[in-house]
Amino acid sequence: MLVNGERIWSRIEELGKIGITPEGGISRFAFSPEDKLAITKCIAWMREAGLKVRMDSVGNIYGRREGKENGPVVLTGSHLDTVINGGKFDGAAGVVAAIETLQVIEEQRIHTRLPIEIVIFVNEEGSRFSGGMMGSLAVTGCLAEDFPYKIKDNSGTLLAYEMKKYGAQPEYLNKARRKPGELKVFYELHIEQGNVLDDKNIPVGIVTGIAGPHQMKLKLFGRSGHAGGMLMKGRRDPLIAAAKIIQEVERASIEASEATRGTVGNVVVYPGGHNIIPGVVELTLDFRDININSRNQVVERVKKYIYKVCEERGLTHELIDTQNVEPIVINDIIIDLIDKAAKDSNITTIKLPSGAAHDAMIMSRLCPIGMIFVRSRGGLSHCPEEYTTKEDLAMGTQVLLNVLIKSADEVPNYGFF
Ligand code: HGY
Ligand code: MN
Ligand code: MN
Repeated sequence: MLVNGERIWSRIEELGKIGITPEGGISRFAFSPEDKLAITKCIAWMREAGLKVRMDSVGNIYGRREGKENGPVVLTGSHLDTVINGGKFDGAAGVVAAIETLQVIEEQRIHTRLPIEIVIFVNEEGSRFSGGMMGSLAVTGCLAEDFPYKIKDNSGTLLAYEMKKYGAQPEYLNKARRKPGELKVFYELHIEQGNVLDDKNIPVGIVTGIAGPHQMKLKLFGRSGHAGGMLMKGRRDPLIAAAKIIQEVERASIEASEATRGTVGNVVVYPGGHNIIPGVVELTLDFRDININSRNQVVERVKKYIYKVCEERGLTHELIDTQNVEPIVINDIIIDLIDKAAKDSNITTIKLPSGAAHDAMIMSRLCPIGMIFVRSRGGLSHCPEEYTTKEDLAMGTQVLLNVLIKSADEVPNYGFF
């Protein structure tokens, strides 16, 4: 193993101290001071690895190592922003691993044919400013130029304003785009966030496909009133409707297929008094599947149910998409390359799909992509209990290093792109 497991671990620990919550998780939202502190640390580590560092107009951070030729770039990276009260490995593992690979290439004086770059994508989670994977959407030209001027966080702060404070240039969003042909391949190392590797006791996984998320915000409008004064008959209570809809989300997802997921992550009740019948209820809907047809069927079924419940209970509603990304399949040529790279270091792997979404799925619109998973203990993620061992992180990083060198040196091109 050429990679330095201790250095990887100490950097994960250092980043894990930024944005700590009283419950022991991490809340490090995009464009926040915590996010800025985390990228500042990574920029210092990138410079230590001899990389040329820059921020693009949307706020992504790049570190570049020149190749013997000025050909298409081999790119790797992930994100540093987290969900609310999340874990310290989601995203950070892929960023720290990427920096480690280039630190080793520098230390070993390896000079690859093609340039290699690291990227830290901004706002992957969409925790504060909705609509995640923002950094990779901008790179692939899939983010509307007025997006930063339309999105506000819950306090009403405009995204564009926070981007400028952060050092990005929302008025030049399209400058973040990478041209077709400019990138040869993008690899992302990430924690699995599910329990396949843990159940099979395998440290590293090779991702075969990525489930597509369809996320929405539902607002139900009823009539507020006095909890004691109003008879039960004739009430138009949106929270009762929400309860029925939440159960339908679960029922429809279970009945669709084993791979289909449906989640209501947040419910907000207005005005929220203990003795007031709710007037408005806002809930988030999140559907995932590797198969687009079963995902679309579940979404349509739940939409019909929403109409029915609102009709029956005299409610009106508003339903808006906040994210809708198709699932992707990863090309076998890349999967085989990662498989060989793991075998070169005698690292055991299995192939598996990703239930979680990643920037890699957006980058697949611009270049071939590959993903390497490292085991999540108990499959837990997006919570303080998220954990990956030092050994697994080191093994995953070694596979990434092998893959980067192969892609930047040996493999002429992938032929399918
Ligand atoms: O939602 C996801 O799958 C990712 O964590 N943003
Ligand atoms: Mn996440
Ligand atoms: Mn992630």
